[in-house]
Amino acid sequence: MNKAIGVFDSGLGGLTAVKELLNIMPNENIIYFGDTGRVPYGTRGVDTIIKYSRQDVNFLKQFDLKMVVVACGTVSSVALDTLKKENDIPIIGVVEPTAMAAVKKTKNKRIGIIGTSGTINSGSYAKAIEKIDSSVKTFSMACPLFVPLVENNYINNEATYIIAKDYLEPLKKEKIDTLILGCTHYPLIFKVISDIIGKDVELINSGAETAVYTKQLLQEGNMLNSGNKAEIQYYVSDNVPKFSSIASNFLDREITGEVKIIDIEKY
Ligand code: DGL
Repeated sequence: MNKAIGVFDSGLGGLTAVKELLNIMPNENIIYFGDTGRVPYGTRGVDTIIKYSRQDVNFLKQFDLKMVVVACGTVSSVALDTLKKENDIPIIGVVEPTAMAAVKKTKNKRIGIIGTSGTINSGSYAKAIEKIDSSVKTFSMACPLFVPLVENNYINNEATYIIAKDYLEPLKKEKIDTLILGCTHYPLIFKVISDIIGKDVELINSGAETAVYTKQLLQEGNMLNSGNKAEIQYYVSDNVPKFSSIASNFLDREITGEVKIIDIEKY
């Protein structure tokens, strides 16, 4: 089936999920929308996040899609049920597949969760884990400064280490053996997080787990692309030059093709 997979995020972060999708399904056509004009979502209230993500899906729905992947921890945590109710197309968020992977990984049944304030305040990951295995204990920490650090390319800086230490020490004390990176930006500071939390703690990348789950669903539904040339189209709501210049950090490859700007308020 040659329809595309629609992927959206509040900005650039969702490209870490696109990277994983392309790694395991190089033949899939992808339409990506990054709401770069209104990022961040993670610090906003529930109503605004729902309003924005509704518009993001409305924009993507113009295309011939087989599935929408919500490559944003915040939207997946706060708005997924609403989006699913309001649309016929299958919509996948990052929370469930990531929670399942973490529960499978943990040995001591102590899982840490980090994400934006919106994600952590929603309790989405803790609830998903409780549903899968109520004997697992979860420990959550909002890390609101990680997104601006990554967006400003503070990847291996001293400042990032100092802030990460502040956020992660309390989780370390709880003796977690698994840590969910519940935000699309966090894989870029994987090394910093791992250095602070300790090499023996397994880090779970929500984009990677969601990509695996997406492939599984497409396989089960016999919906994988039968062609052999994938096309990726990128749309943003602001600042094409910034997107084009730092997108390759998130994607781990150069962007091919034009990045187009749209007026998301119209949707
Ligand atoms: N994409 C968001 C997430 O994964 C992070 C950026 C934001 O706050 O919008 O939660």
